[in-house]
Amino acid sequence: MDAARAPLLASVLCLLAAAAALPAASAARAFFVFGDSLVDNGNNNYLLTTARADAPPYGIDFPTHRATGRFSNGLNIPDIISEHLGAEPALPYLSPELRGEKLLVGANFASAGVGILNDTGIQFVREHRQDRRPAARLYELGARQVVVTGTGPLGCVPAELALHSQSGECAADLMRAVNLFNPQLVDMVRGLNRALGADVFVTANTLRINFDYLNNPQKYGFTNVQVACCGQGPYNGIGLCTAASNVCANRDVFAFWDAFHPTERANRIIVGQFMHGDTDYMHPVNLSTMLAMDRERL
Ligand SMILES: *[C@@H]1O[C@H](CO)[C@@H](O)[C@H](O)[C@H]1NC(C)=O
Ligand SMILES: *[C@@H]1O[C@H](CO)[C@@H](O)[C@H](O)[C@H]1NC(C)=O
Repeated sequence: MDAARAPLLASVLCLLAAAAALPAASAARAFFVFGDSLVDNGNNNYLLTTARADAPPYGIDFPTHRATGRFSNGLNIPDIISEHLGAEPALPYLSPELRGEKLLVGANFASAGVGILNDTGIQFVREHRQDRRPAARLYELGARQVVVTGTGPLGCVPAELALHSQSGECAADLMRAVNLFNPQLVDMVRGLNRALGADVFVTANTLRINFDYLNNPQKYGFTNVQVACCGQGPYNGIGLCTAASNVCANRDVFAFWDAFHPTERANRIIVGQFMHGDTDYMHPVNLSTMLAMDRERL
């Protein structure tokens, strides 16, 4: 996969939280993450790929101020979900540190650059390509609470604005694709829950969550929702974020960290809605309700 394509394909996010309801391990809750660069927390450090976030200025606002492979200035979406769970972030499944007690926290299987089509899933998901029932398989393995995120506004990221936008409007073709994909995802999830006879799967309306702050930046404390904090060219949307790029001074007032990925500030808004959003954002229930239901069951 070439460098220019990898991050673009990385914009379809699929995030799954799974709690194995083993009667013996009453308080146990493990968190597993599957998806692309929006939720990769370092797997690509261990892969031969050009989709990497393992050099500064990535991680500039991370607690250690080091690049970890997260595609953000600081924490990413699963990190912030782990905070809400009161747990350590799940380690990358390729990390040598993922052993012993650490395995009980869960694991992160996300990899920047993966996609759901044949030609975008080349890194390590190919062997599962033939399996047409990945969701059913997750359930059989014990996953009882799974969040599936719809795709965000792919046409509004700085990289697309740089290529296609005359005056800041989102790229129409990609937005059409988004508007085809998301409703079908919701239908599919509804069908899965019906087949299982329980609301195991929850869809997150990432598009709506993103539009809230993209259309109303001031309300959310952003001064800039079109230009990436780190990058170069129009909208800082051309090429990669590297040590040679422009980097904004205050990451908290930017929605986009690089040409494709949100800042930690934006990630916190997104996870806030995962936790507490109403049914327009999280369907049929939000994560806080899901976790409360889980505590009652255990
Ligand atoms: C993806 O690859 C599989 C196996 O090679 C093939 O059967 C299938 O038709 C392909 N799907 C698409 C959409 O190209
Ligand atoms: C979502 O979360 C909050 C708690 O933070 C709750 O009050 C609310 O009713 C929940 N569910 C829905 C469907 O809105």
